[in-house]
Amino acid sequence: MSEPRDESADTSAQELSATLTPFDTDVEGALRPQNLAEFIGQETVREQLDLVLTAATRRGVVPDHLLFSGPPGLGKTSLAMIVAAELGGSLRITSGPALERPGDLAAMLSNLIEGDVLFIDEIHRIARPAEEMLYLAMEDFRIDIMVGKGPGATSIPLEIAPFTLVGATTRSGALTGPLRDRFGFTAHMDFYSDQDLARIVTRAADILAIPVEPDAALEVASRSRGTPRIANRLLRRVRDFAEVRADGKITVPVAQAALAVYEVDELGLDRLDRAVLRALLVQHEGGPVGLSTLAVAVGEESTTLEEVCEPFLVRAGLLARTPRGRVATAAAWEHMGLSRPDRGNGQPMLQVELDGGPDSP
Ligand SMILES: Nc1ncnc2c1ncn2[C@@H]1O[C@H](COP(=O)(O)OP(=O)(O)OP(=O)(O)O)[C@@H](O)[C@H]1O
Ligand SMILES: [Mg+2]
Repeated sequence: MSEPRDESADTSAQELSATLTPFDTDVEGALRPQNLAEFIGQETVREQLDLVLTAATRRGVVPDHLLFSGPPGLGKTSLAMIVAAELGGSLRITSGPALERPGDLAAMLSNLIEGDVLFIDEIHRIARPAEEMLYLAMEDFRIDIMVGKGPGATSIPLEIAPFTLVGATTRSGALTGPLRDRFGFTAHMDFYSDQDLARIVTRAADILAIPVEPDAALEVASRSRGTPRIANRLLRRVRDFAEVRADGKITVPVAQAALAVYEVDELGLDRLDRAVLRALLVQHEGGPVGLSTLAVAVGEESTTLEEVCEPFLVRAGLLARTPRGRVATAAAWEHMGLSRPDRGNGQPMLQVELDGGPDSP
């Protein structure tokens, strides 16, 4: 099969990915909501979190450990910062991959003061020895420091200040049971509605002093794949276009023309999303096909597909996960402007496969 590697070979479309890039870091600082009231959307999570924090504050204790789980760019880091701000403690930031040796974690834990928030990003990637140290720290605010080696080694218990651990993960399923059980509350972050994203775009435009019409904010929002980080990034790209090709004001036609230039389609699919769909439809006749096969076809890592593309494609009703692999839906064929291959019996391939496969009667 000689499918041209047009979209899949291009990894330059970073402005359309939900993952954090160095270009975001500066501006994201300015755009981060500072407290729960400024945090837009995620009503359920906000209400639950508000109760946890308020109740603990009233009782004069540190809140339970919190786990924030969800796809990239939905506000997990922002929420962790808000938790620290609401509690009036300081925020210590680290990440799972940075805690390779338990000594690294011990140093962080022993430096905490009461009421601090320790934020561990990508907590599912923490190494085993550090994770085991965390169990005791989370449960008893205590760690055991090993001194010496061999038969003479002793462990010295060390008290640590009561603190709140906030973990963030894009893959809560990858957490071990014992670690997950030690969190008192798990916030499942979901994709944002277009309306909430439009409010986020409008807020960001205010902060950055970008003139944007309300309809145009909604236009940008509706192509942002439910993700605030993408919404803020598209806003910046549309601003570039408005300043260079128009009078600086973002109107609906300006937003549409700009987004056409950046190849963000009406559903907000980016190049990688479309490459995945095309591989699934053209090379594999709509599936079912395994995740790793798809990943090879588009030249990406399986985890990128699983964590970044798939959640949105599934949510948009374009792709389904089945026990036998990934399957394109009818909407996917339609969205990509392709027609399903015919098996000669008038039945589309997908139908036959879903009904039980070629071997069924
Ligand atoms: N609810 C929100 N209201 C306003 N802005 C938001 C909201 N959620 C996220 N943002 C914006 O999106 C940006 C990305 O959010 P954040 O860094 O918290 O995501 P994340 O879930 O930690 O992503 P990752 O998984 O990549 O670490 C923030 O800088 C902020 O500007
Ligand atoms: Mg983050």
